[in-house]
Amino acid sequence: MSGIYIHIPYCRKKCSYCNFYFLVSMKTVKPFVDSLLNEIEITKEYLIKKELKSIYFGGGTPSVLQTNDLQRILNKIEEIYTYNNNIEITLEANPDDITEAYIKKIVEVGINRLSIGVQSFSDSELKLFGRTHDSSSAINAIKISKEYGIENLNIDLIFGVPGSDRLSWKKNLDIFLDLNVDHLSCYNLTVENKTAISHQIKKGLVKGINDEISSEQFTDTIDYLCEMGFEHYEISNYAKNGRYAIHNTNYWKGEHYLGLGPSAHSYNGEYRQWNISNLRQYIQSTGKGNLPIGLEKLSNSDKYNEYIMTGLRTMWGIDLKHILQFDKEIVQTFLENINSFIDNGYVAQNNDKYFLTKTGKLFADRIASELFVS
Ligand SMILES: C[S@@+](CC[C@H](N)C(=O)[O-])C[C@H]1O[C@@H](n2cnc3c(N)ncnc32)[C@H](O)[C@@H]1O
Repeated sequence: MSGIYIHIPYCRKKCSYCNFYFLVSMKTVKPFVDSLLNEIEITKEYLIKKELKSIYFGGGTPSVLQTNDLQRILNKIEEIYTYNNNIEITLEANPDDITEAYIKKIVEVGINRLSIGVQSFSDSELKLFGRTHDSSSAINAIKISKEYGIENLNIDLIFGVPGSDRLSWKKNLDIFLDLNVDHLSCYNLTVENKTAISHQIKKGLVKGINDEISSEQFTDTIDYLCEMGFEHYEISNYAKNGRYAIHNTNYWKGEHYLGLGPSAHSYNGEYRQWNISNLRQYIQSTGKGNLPIGLEKLSNSDKYNEYIMTGLRTMWGIDLKHILQFDKEIVQTFLENINSFIDNGYVAQNNDKYFLTKTGKLFADRIASELFVS
């Protein structure tokens, strides 16, 4: 089964930390949606498996779209792909866009999961991020979503915020826990070049990142949420009641997906391809049938590296049986390197499976890159 990702490149306002691709003017929404429908037609042969497990509207801020646009996109997808009632259809939403009327309408068009960009329950952090909502409106948005038909919810929070400490982060987690939501995505703040927050830090207007505090907040989250019945099933993701994000889990398990919209990436088991990160050029190319901008056939080494990168980040770990399907040299490199991480306490082994330990999780990217082959 496959997944479809749709990149909606609009936000009402730029957040101080964000360097994702989006625009703040909504003037092009109509030609953009027309282009998406075109792209669905152009790419219809890309996915070999036409049965869908998930559809994900990401951004940007997909909740800026009117529900009739969501409906047009979903209708077009349905012309080409099949899915049953268990499909997960997620919309990333900004708390500001969530009203009783909006939730009722998106439920009607088939959205059954929301990922709400709360980022923090602290008003001063929200101000630093340049968000347009405050803590109480975020809490209200979560309550409204549940009350009017969306029980399957994710909340995005950011830790490692300048000036935060273990206690202020725990307050965020306590508010999250009180809301009885089954899924949390927790991201360590990355200060990207050329973002407003990076300028503020450079000018000394905002404190810099404290890696030690960020690491403590990360391991505190694992301890606290696991004690509260959550599973830490991927480096940045926690779920209870088995409510793993089907769409993202699809990526981590190496399953196939089609990405639509500017800057979206796709993978069908053999080829990875991606669209241009420019809305005007994206609209022009879809008009001419000239997609994608980049295409790459994955070598065995690429496939192994991706398996290591994603597998290591999840609680399902790396399976030796899968590694043994690669060339002899790759298997040898893996076995030689993994043992030193086991000896140092970064990786644990259980029969054929390898997982990061709690300490290992702090260095996931570095460990993965040391296991890579070139
Ligand atoms: C592409 S954003 C879109 C979410 C949505 N538009 C919103 O309301 O924020 C997806 C998530 O990535 C995370 N994110 C984006 N930039 C980040 C950064 N520099 N550091 C950490 N997390 C970041 C945020 O938690 C955000 O909710």
